[in-house]
Order: sequence, then C-alpha cells, then structure tokens
Amino acid sequence: MNPSSFLIQIPFFPEQASNFALEMDLFYLFLFALTGFFTVLIGVAAIYFLIKYRRRSQGEVPEQIEGHLKLEITWTVIPFLISMVIFAWGAKLYYQMYTPPTDALEIFVTGKQWMWRAQHPDGQREINELHVPLGRRVKLTMTSEDVIHSYYIPAFRTKTDLVPGRYTTSWFTPTKTGTYHLFCAEYCGTQHSGMIGKVMVMEYSDYQAWLRGVPREKSPAEAGEQLFTSLACSNCHLENNSGRGPSLQNLFGKDVKLANGATVKVDETYLRESILNPGAKTVVGYTNDMPTFQGLVTEEQVAMIIQYIKSIGQKQGSGQTATPAPAAPAPAAQEVGRPAAPQTAKPAAPQGD
Ligand code: CUA
Repeated sequence: MNPSSFLIQIPFFPEQASNFALEMDLFYLFLFALTGFFTVLIGVAAIYFLIKYRRRSQGEVPEQIEGHLKLEITWTVIPFLISMVIFAWGAKLYYQMYTPPTDALEIFVTGKQWMWRAQHPDGQREINELHVPLGRRVKLTMTSEDVIHSYYIPAFRTKTDLVPGRYTTSWFTPTKTGTYHLFCAEYCGTQHSGMIGKVMVMEYSDYQAWLRGVPREKSPAEAGEQLFTSLACSNCHLENNSGRGPSLQNLFGKDVKLANGATVKVDETYLRESILNPGAKTVVGYTNDMPTFQGLVTEEQVAMIIQYIKSIGQKQGSGQTATPAPAAPAPAAQEVGRPAAPQTAKPAAPQGD
C-alpha cells in the first residue's frame, strides 16, 4: 500500500459516519458536561469553604456538626438519579449496538497478526480494507486466528473485540460516503500499531460495481460445500439421519437435544465448537465418533463450512425454527438491494454534507 494514500487527516473528533455516531457523541458530551459541571461546583465550593471557615485565631475551637439528614439524603438521591440516567442511556446504546439486525449484509472478518481479512457474501475478499455500501445495514461476524484483536472504526463509533475461539458481531449503517480509519484497538504484539486499514463507504451502485470488479471466488457457502466433501464430513453426515452423524439438512437455527439431556440452539458458535471439539456437545442418540478438526482447518474455513450448513438449513422451509436464522449469503446479497428500513431504535439524524 502506498503510505501517502494513507494520510487521512486526524481531527479532534472523528467524522460522524454511521447511525450510531451522533448519539454516541451526544452521550459523550453529556458525560463530559456533567463531569465538568461537578468539577467546577466542587472546586469552587472547596475554595469558598476553605476561605470562609479558615482558622481565625489561635486556639479557636470550631463548632462540631454531627450530621445533617436532609443534606445527606439530597446528595445521595441526586447522584443516584444522575447515575441512573447514565446507566439507562448507556445500556440503550449498548443494546442497540450489540443487537445486529437479522436482515443486514453479512461480512465475515478474520483478525490475524497483523492483518484484517474480510469476505463479502458472494465471496469477494479484501485485506486491510473494508468496502461497505451507504445507507445499508452491515453486520460483521468476526473471529481471530490467534490473539485478541479489536475492530475499531472511529468514524462509526464502533469497536468490537475479535476473540479466538468464538464469534463476535458488530453492526452499523454507514451514513456518509468517504474513506475512514480502521484500527486494531487491542494490543496484539509487536506490529499492533501497524494493524490498520481503511473503510470505504460507497454509494450502493459504486459498491455493486466494486464487487463486480473484485476477482470472484467461490462464495463462502460454495467453498464450504467443497470442504465438506474434501474433509469427508459428507461420509457420515448423510441426509435423513441415515449416517453415523446427525443430518445437517435444515438444522441451522433449530434446537437439538444432547446426550446429557440438555438442549442447545444450533448457531455459529455451536457449529464451530462441534467442528473443533466434537465431543463437547454430543447429540442424543449418537456416540462421539467424530475426530477433531482443530488445526486442520483455519477459522476462515470453519466459517465457510458453517455458511454451507446454514445454506442447507434454509433449503426446506420449516416452521420449527426457534428464531429467524441470520440471512445466508445469497439472500443477504439480495436484501442489501433494499434501502434500510427505519431502525427500531432511534436513528441518528441524517448527517448533512
Ligand atoms: Cu491486532 Cu492489535
């Protein structure tokens, strides 16, 4: 990468380029103003009392004050109410940010010392860059190949850790076209400070054109299907539960009963665990015959296999799904054609430009 292309200006406040940015800034300014108000109030009062109640003569004995109930109740109740406002507002924002919409464009992100890889629903890949369409909801499903990284886009006010061994998600609706910083915000080794990139927000038509220009590889689900065969998963996981392992058809999003009597919902995390540590949650009626694929597949390959299992989970409609399964790659790609509907939570006001 040409380093000079990377010199984006660093202003005091980053630009507001996502649906979360305005409210996050208001929240931050509220905390800042509140802190400033009490700093001044306490500072001024301290100096005032210091002078007013100074010792005026040698041997002066001050009046002893044992307590003042009204005063103590006041300065307990008011801070309590203020802290509840902080809590409620912060919790609301947190809940919005960590509850990705089910109809979002899903991009898979892998962190690795010291680079960011992203794969779009139709298989286009990019490194240390992320192209996203303006005004569409985008969900990032992320994991790490090695240590904890953190995907931080200041202009979007989003920051989410990538943790080895599990999936985390982040979502946003870009509200302003442009090129923005991407940082790793978790110290991850010697090149941590170099683990940076660019996020490009493009008009939807430009985004589509960009997608067409990237050499098409197999979609994650197609690559997953190929892995499913080449790793011989298909030898045991036959349809209709006729093989040594349970059928994976129409499985995603369902609840399955385990040998230990518990029930687990089939989601990305459960599938990943079952690939890497098959004995952890054995399905009732089966023995743990499956070898582990730990070390044999990369996180990206695990994700591909999961995308494949998701795709065969939606071939036959069934009313039993516990919760709506996240969109599989193909439908997601169609859904991004729709303009984003109003957010359930309060959307940020459109950023003027
Ligand atoms: Cu990756 Cu710091």
